[in-house]
Amino acid sequence: MAGETEGLRIAREIFQESAGTISRYSDLLTDRGIEWGVLGPREANRVWTRHILNSAAVAQLIPPRATVADVGSGGGLPGIPVALLRPDLRVELIEPLLRRCAFLTHAVEALELTGRVTVRRARAEEVGESYDAVLSRALAPLDRLIRWCLPLMSPEGQILAIKGASAEDEVSRNARMILASGLLVEVVRPQIEPTLPPTTVVRLRRAEAP
Ligand SMILES: C[S@@+](CC[C@H](N)C(=O)[O-])C[C@H]1O[C@@H](n2cnc3c(N)ncnc32)[C@H](O)[C@@H]1O
Repeated sequence: MAGETEGLRIAREIFQESAGTISRYSDLLTDRGIEWGVLGPREANRVWTRHILNSAAVAQLIPPRATVADVGSGGGLPGIPVALLRPDLRVELIEPLLRRCAFLTHAVEALELTGRVTVRRARAEEVGESYDAVLSRALAPLDRLIRWCLPLMSPEGQILAIKGASAEDEVSRNARMILASGLLVEVVRPQIEPTLPPTTVVRLRRAEAP
């Protein structure tokens, strides 16, 4: 599996003209991000492979020019890597905690993303808007995640929840609730580069889009 040096090389190749900006974001996460508690100190030596590139893989599942919410964005994952890879998207980073929002606001300004990336301090349940793609990573167990994210999904939109190895188990355990919510579910594994492990994503869409 690729290490951090290889992760940095892959990131430069993938982010192309945004390579400098994603490097600045990595520095922000491992510096102020650790200081402000948005990233654990032990994560510094795997920020590319485990966090940034793992998050960036979800970008390929989002349709062109979509409006995107990143629910429970924390330090901006996956919303910031996705926004840097896909300048056609408008991304809202939704996060209830003040300190994390302060980090996100600083990052959006420092990375010159103002205008197409916004920060909203709120819990998902309070937002009351809809988006074409509702992203999340490490947000909550699937049943709670669906309760929070479904009201944010536009009629033809999708929920894209980055999950770990237990994704299929979670889907099976919640099959009845998913069906009752009128949703179709699949587990997809987008890969950003062959030497990196794929990202596991639970994708949910309405069974009958209008
Ligand atoms: C484990 S962190 C994950 C952060 C980031 N997505 C990542 O992958 O590093 C979960 C985040 O969800 C936020 N959160 C918890 N409940 C939430 C809710 N009801 N609505 C929106 N965000 C919530 C927390 O404040 C926290 O920042």
